[in-house]
Amino acid sequence: MKIIVTGAAGFIGSCFVRQVLNETSDVSIIALDKLTYAGNLENLKSVADLPTFQFVRADIADADAIESLLAQEQPDAIVHFAAESHVDRSILSPAPVFETNLKGTFVLLEAARKQKTPRFVHVSTDEVYGSIREPFEADESYPLIASSPYSASKAGSDLLALSYFTTYKQPVIVTRASNNYGPYQFPEKLIPLMITNAFEDKPLPVYGNGMQVRDWLFVEDHCRAIHSVLLSGKEGEVYNIGGSRSLPNIEVVHKILEITGKPESLIQYVTDRPGHDLRYALSSEKIEKTTGWNPQVSFESGLKLTVDWYLQNTPWVDRVKSGAYLDYYEQNYAGREKASSH
Ligand code: NAD
Ligand code: DAU
Repeated sequence: MKIIVTGAAGFIGSCFVRQVLNETSDVSIIALDKLTYAGNLENLKSVADLPTFQFVRADIADADAIESLLAQEQPDAIVHFAAESHVDRSILSPAPVFETNLKGTFVLLEAARKQKTPRFVHVSTDEVYGSIREPFEADESYPLIASSPYSASKAGSDLLALSYFTTYKQPVIVTRASNNYGPYQFPEKLIPLMITNAFEDKPLPVYGNGMQVRDWLFVEDHCRAIHSVLLSGKEGEVYNIGGSRSLPNIEVVHKILEITGKPESLIQYVTDRPGHDLRYALSSEKIEKTTGWNPQVSFESGLKLTVDWYLQNTPWVDRVKSGAYLDYYEQNYAGREKASSH
């Protein structure tokens, strides 16, 4: 099976590529990424020498590049992770969000339609359901009530993807996952930001009162779920993927302080995020019943593993924070992206 993975150098995409190439023998992957600030090829270093790995630097919104790649490679599947993924950035600067998340998804769907790509997994988010009132959980039929430019762009791209199934019978599947955490996450998101700030004794900025609730999913569990949907999900369907571990943000921050041994005085309550969703809560019953998938990693062990990873990988953190994430690409790939090893 030949898969094109978009956003393959990002946090979740790179985990998916490493996991699939390390655990299966009959899959080859074309890792596609524009390498924005969030894409770092170093994340794929451990699999870069496998004959089953190739890297292509491309923008998913570039129709010519995407159409010729698909025409040439004729992949069996596309797993689409590429996105502008950060809510706060989407509030400060919405344009790139719509360019990549909406136009980029449209370009991919169109190219896949023309080439009759047999499978297309569109990776989306529980944010499309908006804030969920206690004690309810969103199942896949819950209305889409997006709050931020990011979630609106994901809701729009979900609908676009599903419309390609309804209209063209294109074999599209949509997944909607809750908040991921784990190694290689860009230190702008809650957990890696708090961990790396705590290491440096910097303030931990908690938005509003810190009582907003998120459902935490270890990134490797998410990738296993996507793999199972890729193999056995039903076309035209949506699958929620939750971590079954809902916690208020302030509790997450307390747990990080406990593991890192840092004082509570580092916590700093700051101005709330505009339009902040108070609570995400997801029912994953459908994927659990239909594929047998379940989250395997408890929040406590996943968080400890994540803190340890950031502690052991401070040079990685320094490079991505300073914008030097392209150095690895320039030194190892530039101009020869399609070589299967470097
Ligand atoms: P990320 O920001 O870490 O990675 C995104 C990747 O996409 C980067 O490598 C970036 O270079 C690439 N990219 C961005 N624009 C591109 C473009 N125009 N063309 C090609 N590549 C481009 O994001 P992530 O956290 O790994 O999220 C991956 C996907 O999963 C996204 O679609 C996101 O909406 C979804 N998701 C994320 C979470 C989460 O908690 N992080 C939860 C549910 C769903
Ligand atoms: O729910 C899935 C979504 O989770 C994904 O679709 C997004 O791509 C991903 O970024 C994430 O979105 P969130 O906005 O929930 O994640 P973030 O890590 O930015 O924030 C998590 C919570 O922590 C949220 O309630 C805001 C709060 N927060 C965040 C940051 C960065 C803080 O209190 N302080 C902070 O500094």
